[in-house]
Amino acid sequence: MIKVIFVSADGSRRSVEIDEGLTAREAALFNNVPGIDGDCGGVCACATCHVHVDHAWINQVGLPEEGGMEDDLIQFAEGATETSRLACQIPMIPALDGLVLHLPKLQH
Ligand code: FES
Repeated sequence: MIKVIFVSADGSRRSVEIDEGLTAREAALFNNVPGIDGDCGGVCACATCHVHVDHAWINQVGLPEEGGMEDDLIQFAEGATETSRLACQIPMIPALDGLVLHLPKLQH
C-alpha cells in the first residue's frame, strides 16, 4: 500500500492508502476524501481531479507533458499553478509513498 496525504483548502489533512498501480484520483475517491470529483472516470477529459502537488514532491511526480492532453486540460482548472496536476494522471508507485497533494477550493 502507498500512502497519500490530501490537504484540504482549509488546511485539514487526511492520510489514506491505495494499492500500487492505482491513481491519486482513486486514492481520494475510494477513501471518500472530499474535493476530488473525477467526473470523467479518470480518462483525462474533465479536469475535476485537479490537485496542487506539494513543492517537496513535484520532482518525483513530474510535470505534465508540455502540449499534451493533461497540460491542455489543466488550463481550464480553477486556480491552476505551476505544480498543478490531474490526480487521475498520477499513478501511485512506491517512490511516491507519503505523497502530499493539496486540494483546490473548487473543482469547477
Ligand atoms: S478524472 Fe477527469 S480528468 Fe481526471
